[in-house]
Amino acid sequence: MDMRSLGNSGIKISPILMGTWQAGKTMWSGIDDAETQKAIRAAFDAGINAFDTAEVYGNGHSEHILAKALTGVRDRAVIMTKVFSNHLKYDQVIKACERSLKNLQTDYIDLYQVHWPPGSFGHAAVPMQETMQAFGDLIKQGKIRAIGVSNFNRQQLEAASQFAAVVSLQSPYSLFWRHVEEDAAAFCRENGMSLLAYSPMAQGLLTGKFGPNHRFEKGDHRSSNRLFNPPLSQHVQAALSLLKPIAAAKGISLGQLALAWVISHPDTFAIAGARNPQQSLQNAAAADILLSAEEMQTLDQISVSVTAHLDENPVLWKW
Ligand SMILES: NC(=O)c1ccc[n+]([C@@H]2O[C@H](COP(=O)([O-])OP(=O)(O)OC[C@H]3O[C@@H](n4cnc5c(N)ncnc54)[C@H](OP(=O)(O)O)[C@@H]3O)[C@@H](O)[C@H]2O)c1
Repeated sequence: MDMRSLGNSGIKISPILMGTWQAGKTMWSGIDDAETQKAIRAAFDAGINAFDTAEVYGNGHSEHILAKALTGVRDRAVIMTKVFSNHLKYDQVIKACERSLKNLQTDYIDLYQVHWPPGSFGHAAVPMQETMQAFGDLIKQGKIRAIGVSNFNRQQLEAASQFAAVVSLQSPYSLFWRHVEEDAAAFCRENGMSLLAYSPMAQGLLTGKFGPNHRFEKGDHRSSNRLFNPPLSQHVQAALSLLKPIAAAKGISLGQLALAWVISHPDTFAIAGARNPQQSLQNAAAADILLSAEEMQTLDQISVSVTAHLDENPVLWKW
């Protein structure tokens, strides 16, 4: 797999990354530890070198599982984790980083990210300068290699960048969710930052496996994903029926088409979540798919048939 630069960090990563929210189990259903470990290892063996996790995914469980799965290959893997919005005061960031290092069984984190901006979920609105000061000190101590943010709008990204060298923004981005294009994406481009697209398959919708009446098991947070619910779900299903023949004609899966569309954008990476090795192998193979300018144009038109119905709220879930 061709490696690309992660912003100005000097770190090289695969265009498809693996996301491990699933490995944390909380907010998903039917996740099996052994299967997720195999999924992570299969992704690594297929050429994916970068893995996204967070302290909040299963309260450290995802970080534990990731560490186990990467036993013996940590030096060839790029580990990205995040501090949650309840830990953004200086001392809290330092402690959270120490906990993550322990969970991840490593002495450095390649990319340390602010998961949600200060003030999210009713947490304290810690000044950006204080949080970034802690990140800067962690860099000086060699505990983290690069700084990223997630779910920040352009204004928040600009504010954070005044106090630290931010190399990436993690945002929801897929054929069905493109708010970042009208907001922070231009700032990323102008400043050499990478866009790490989360939920690039719209949490599984863009694999085509969920029909209009799908009901998730209790505990699966995707029941609150706005794309799975009316009024958006009808536009989503109509768009899927147009996308399916395009994927079939190319001899690829719909999910691979969705991932290929994301990574066809400059400096944009797709963080693909997976619960088993079959899914991670299929996702890794999407890195080699090329889309022509004409195909991109057609996909763009289909995409707009959904995104034209989105409101101003950039958050994917109603919670
Ligand atoms: N920064 C943030 O706030 C934030 C928010 C969300 C996600 N993320 C990160 O981004 C990662 C990916 O996002 P996501 O998991 O929300 O969405 P996603 O990657 O769009 O979708 C993942 C889901 O799609 C299905 N899937 C994946 N590969 C498949 C394949 N080859 N064939 C069939 N189905 C497949 C699986 O559904 P089933 O489980 O039903 O099989 C899987 O759980 C997360 O793991 C996390 O690391 C970050």
